[in-house]
Amino acid sequence: MTYETLLVAVDDHGIATVTINRPDKLNALNAQVIDDLDGFFAVAEEDNAIRGVILTGAGEKSFVAGADIARFRELDGVTGKAFADRGQAVFSRIENLPKPVIAAVNGFALGGGSELALACHIRIASENAVFGQPEVNLGILPGYGGTQRLPRLVGLGIATELILTGNMIKADRAHAIGLANQVVPVDELMEAARKMMGTILSKAPLAVAMSLKALRVADQPLAVGLKEEAALFGEACDTEDFKEGVEAFLGKRKASFTGR
Ligand code: COA
Repeated sequence: MTYETLLVAVDDHGIATVTINRPDKLNALNAQVIDDLDGFFAVAEEDNAIRGVILTGAGEKSFVAGADIARFRELDGVTGKAFADRGQAVFSRIENLPKPVIAAVNGFALGGGSELALACHIRIASENAVFGQPEVNLGILPGYGGTQRLPRLVGLGIATELILTGNMIKADRAHAIGLANQVVPVDELMEAARKMMGTILSKAPLAVAMSLKALRVADQPLAVGLKEEAALFGEACDTEDFKEGVEAFLGKRKASFTGR
């Protein structure tokens, strides 16, 4: 698995660590990064050797400092819409991965970088992380899902404040508003991400995938979400791992899940 702009390493536990690797441009998302993310996450969906993904940025300064502003001179009404459509499709692919994706936010997560973190299932931030949607400074609005995913995560009022002011916020506020799940010292970031991923991967894999699927419709009307939850609950009850989990609990032993 080689990509022009990504470093990918898969460990023995099936954790793929994906590092966006343009540190001289603070890992800004150019077309190649978007293509590479698309390619990697397509592979990750099919490849049984990958059980979860940790996404981070190269260097100590930045997760992703946004879409590549150098490309913005080319954008007009038509190409701008295509630009947003393409980024949205790739970020939706990430969000829809039936395996857990953790963003390890190691510095600036601005514009498309914040939106990329929002498309991941969980965000762990280092103490030097800075989040923001500064698009209004450039005369645009978020185009990779920020106006939709940010209010779903932190509520409409705070999302409106962040998107209209373009203000950057530090890790402690990101944590306080629910944007970051956890804040850790810089040198503990990757270990914290691996620890949380390890906890998730120790659970029944199909139950994790089904939980992700149910959580994805949490923004739908309650009746729709409840219907999906009940259907998935039924599916889960048909798995071998369900029987194993219950027998292990009742037999006072550790469950051994097989993902069947
Ligand atoms: N697109 C393209 N290049 C970017 C970039 C982006 N989003 N963000 C940073 N860079 C580049 C800079 O142009 C600079 O390149 P150069 O060395 O060739 O001049 C390099 O990354 C380092 O950035 P620099 O601005 O020198 O670092 P800094 O520490 O002074 O400032 C930021 C860091 C993040 C505050 C600043 O880079 C910034 O505001 N970036 C844009 C953020 C943004 O608006 N993102 C949303 C886009 S929609």
